[in-house]
Amino acid sequence: MIPADPAPLLLLTLTVSSVLAAFFLLGLLKMLLRSVGRERLGRVRRPPAPPGIHGIPLVGETLSFLSADRSGKGFYEFVRARRLRYGNCFKTSIFGKTQVFVSTTSAAKAVLGGDSVGFSKMYMRSISELLGKQSLLCASPENHRRLRRRMSTLFNTQSLEASVRTFDGLTVEALGKWKQGQTMVVLEEALKITFAAICKLLASIEREDELAEMQRDISEVTEAMLSIPLKLPGCRFFKGLKARRRVMTSLRKTIRQRREGSEHHDDFLQSLLAMDDQRSSDDQLTDSQILDNMLTLIIAGQITTASAIAWMVKYLDENPNVQERVRELHLPLLVGNAPGENNLDPEALGQMAYASMVVKETLRMASIVSWFPRVALEDCEVEGFQIAKGWIVNVDARHIHSDSAVYDNPGKFFPLRFHKDPKPYSFLAFGTGERTCLGMNLAKAMMLVFLHRLVTMFRWKVIDTDTSLEKGALFPRLRSGCPIKVTPISSSD
Ligand code: HEM
Repeated sequence: MIPADPAPLLLLTLTVSSVLAAFFLLGLLKMLLRSVGRERLGRVRRPPAPPGIHGIPLVGETLSFLSADRSGKGFYEFVRARRLRYGNCFKTSIFGKTQVFVSTTSAAKAVLGGDSVGFSKMYMRSISELLGKQSLLCASPENHRRLRRRMSTLFNTQSLEASVRTFDGLTVEALGKWKQGQTMVVLEEALKITFAAICKLLASIEREDELAEMQRDISEVTEAMLSIPLKLPGCRFFKGLKARRRVMTSLRKTIRQRREGSEHHDDFLQSLLAMDDQRSSDDQLTDSQILDNMLTLIIAGQITTASAIAWMVKYLDENPNVQERVRELHLPLLVGNAPGENNLDPEALGQMAYASMVVKETLRMASIVSWFPRVALEDCEVEGFQIAKGWIVNVDARHIHSDSAVYDNPGKFFPLRFHKDPKPYSFLAFGTGERTCLGMNLAKAMMLVFLHRLVTMFRWKVIDTDTSLEKGALFPRLRSGCPIKVTPISSSD
């Protein structure tokens, strides 16, 4: 049956469909708003990745990293240029790994600080192949703890006393040969002295031919550490591996003689072996643990300290008032400790407060270890950026040391700034946390002894002011090696 008037029915149909359409639109709008909101919330929860580029697939920015060094400004130039472009946290890819660089004290605390369980020390494969898997620098966290505990005893107060006397004796002997008006290349001289001291302290290696051969091999291993890991004849890495093998053969022979009892000396190696004798066999160090760590100590201790000494001599040349102040304070300290009389000891070094500040200021300005690499053990956030598990986060100590937000007038060589303790995580010359430099006290002592002997025996003038850096060097050092002309104190006064 057809209704007489269809208008009310039409009206009803229209009303119902309008209400349904309104509900549908409302639902749609709600869903839309919810998803936008979720996205917003998600963005708040998930920080952005650090800025920066990955470069060519697989190769990344490795070539730019290696060629930055060719500029004569060192590998750090690569980092510096990108920090200026991207800011205090940026990402790149070197040697097939995603690398993030961070350069604030808060980032240093987050990555290196005591509660940074999310990061572990990480070195490139090339470095661990050259130093050895058992090296303290490359060992797994559990292995590291055990090795470090065993090796720390080698750097106790008693050993430091012997080390200071040894280093002083060698310094006085070397500087005693310098003549009026002669040109001495500080880096070369300091390398010879620190190398001789460390080899003597470690394993009583003293024969000149043995030392010279070992020094050649050690510098080949060191030069290979930042090279492309190609095992092809003629390549730097290949040469480094061959040099490592020669060093190992020579040290292995020494260990065998000590274990057989045919040789006995008062040195680090002997005390390591003696400690082993008192332990159960499964707690003893293996030969490869001892070998890798002897090589590590020679490399970690020699070039770093010698480079720091060369920078110190340069800074003191540029700041004659500081040099004179140290001399003025140190000439009276010679009584009883004059060259050739008594060797210095840690107690004498304890009286050198201003010189200690000179050492610290040198280490701040020179930043011998420019950045510290750590691998992220899980996804995390640093400085507001997302860091993925497996990425390497490098703390840029060099920038922290030269940041005007951290140090007043950072470009000025001003030892007295260390009259006050530096702010937390602002002085990173020896790193911080559980991986702090094991040889820190020895290194500071060696720098102090050298400074004391140099200022009390000579005045000097740097004769090559070229500031370009040695290419391929793991630690920044002057290409010129800092040549100086010396005038003995007695003839200049
Ligand atoms: C001025 C000289 C030196 C400087 C600037 C220096 C700097 C450093 C820095 C910054 C670290 C920590 C790196 C990191 O956390 O990634 C380190 C570690 C280390 N240094 Fe030194 N160092 C110097 C001298 C020495 C000496 C003389 C020795 C021993 C003979 C030595 C042995 C070591 C060792 C074994 C480690 C590894 C510690 C570990 O991982 O537990 N260093 N050094």
